Amino acid sequence: MFLLAPLSLCKQKRFIINQMDNKTIHKILTVNDHRIPMVIYDVDVIKRQKTSLDNLFKNVVKKFTIAYSYKTNTALGQTMRDLDCSFQVTSINHLRQVKQLTNKKPFKIFFNSRNLTKKDLKEVIHGGVHLIINSRSQYDMVQELATKQRQKLQIGVRIDTKSLPKNTFFKTVNTGLGLDYQEFKGLPRKSKCLEIVGLHAHIASQNTDLLSIEKGIKVLSRIFEQNNFNFRYLNLGGGFPIQYKNSVPTIKSFAEKIIPAIRKIQKPNPSLEFIIEPGRYIVGPAGYLFARVNDIISNHGKIDVAVINCSVFSSVRDRILSGYVIELPCVVFKKQKIETKKYLIVGSSPSSCDTFGKYVLPKIRIGDILIFSHAGAYCLSNDDFTGVEKPQEFVWTGNHLLPI
Ligand SMILES: Cc1ncc(COP(=O)(O)O)c(C=O)c1O
Repeated sequence: MFLLAPLSLCKQKRFIINQMDNKTIHKILTVNDHRIPMVIYDVDVIKRQKTSLDNLFKNVVKKFTIAYSYKTNTALGQTMRDLDCSFQVTSINHLRQVKQLTNKKPFKIFFNSRNLTKKDLKEVIHGGVHLIINSRSQYDMVQELATKQRQKLQIGVRIDTKSLPKNTFFKTVNTGLGLDYQEFKGLPRKSKCLEIVGLHAHIASQNTDLLSIEKGIKVLSRIFEQNNFNFRYLNLGGGFPIQYKNSVPTIKSFAEKIIPAIRKIQKPNPSLEFIIEPGRYIVGPAGYLFARVNDIISNHGKIDVAVINCSVFSSVRDRILSGYVIELPCVVFKKQKIETKKYLIVGSSPSSCDTFGKYVLPKIRIGDILIFSHAGAYCLSNDDFTGVEKPQEFVWTGNHLLPI
């Protein structure tokens, strides 16, 4: 019998944080061992995560929409479409990809980008996509286009609530993501061609600070109360955290902060739609990265180094994004329990930054398989990360610039 044996879980038969059991993993590896390194997404986990959000919010508001944050994992776009999700998109490249997703049921696309050009704007608007503006100059650009085309456009506004979460490495405050309260108040109240129909605020990814959510919603509530707009939706973005190594507040505790505020905002607007844009919470726990140990270098009394056949640059980009704070849970797929040892796990590139983290694991040998869980968010499918255009590559020959 094979055993998944991280130190703290040695006695557990199940890979506790996720659902995949030893038998399933053994079955997968029997046929797919040669494919390692590989990532597997467990659709049941995705469904479970999505259902937990539905259960919390569906009965609170008449209209509840999950707009999946497509950039979190583009490979799971079709799966999310099949689960009837709408989408949140931050680049033109990703917008084009999302439009290709098939499913007969209608769905909404919310577009919000720091990098909105006039050309992109036309593509967004003509494609029937809902635009959420990010800055005053974006407002002016849309206004100019709508006036020129004699068109009445409905848009949303992203708000920088200035609520700075603690203990989170992905912060959006003061980073050019949204108008603050005063800037919002400075927007024209009435415009012939632009109608502001919704507010959007995404505070931070992997946000474990419940107080920051409360503070953020207070700012939004103030805008709802004090402004005479005909708001049709409130979009709270994503950011719901998942448990990597340290425990995080439950999704229920987030709902407990959010629901009373929505109820209050809803009172004068009973048909208000409530939208969230989760990414990590839904797909993160569903991903398993399988890697093989290709070398072990003993460091004479210091921590041993285990080299695996994949790299953080291409398989756990989130580790870099988080400033090396995020460490995915890892287990060894082994035949028997043996003594444990501490390892620095490094990737296959020569970069000193290619480190997966320090782990206490049952003694590993070359050829062993490591399985990292929670590898579903901001990890693998983001080679075109968030859809941003990749700079072209050239060589300079002294005379010419040659495209590669
Ligand atoms: C505007 C917006 N919405 C949603 C998300 C999804 O966040 P998460 O994957 O943490 O749920 C992000 C991520 O950065 C975002 O920028």
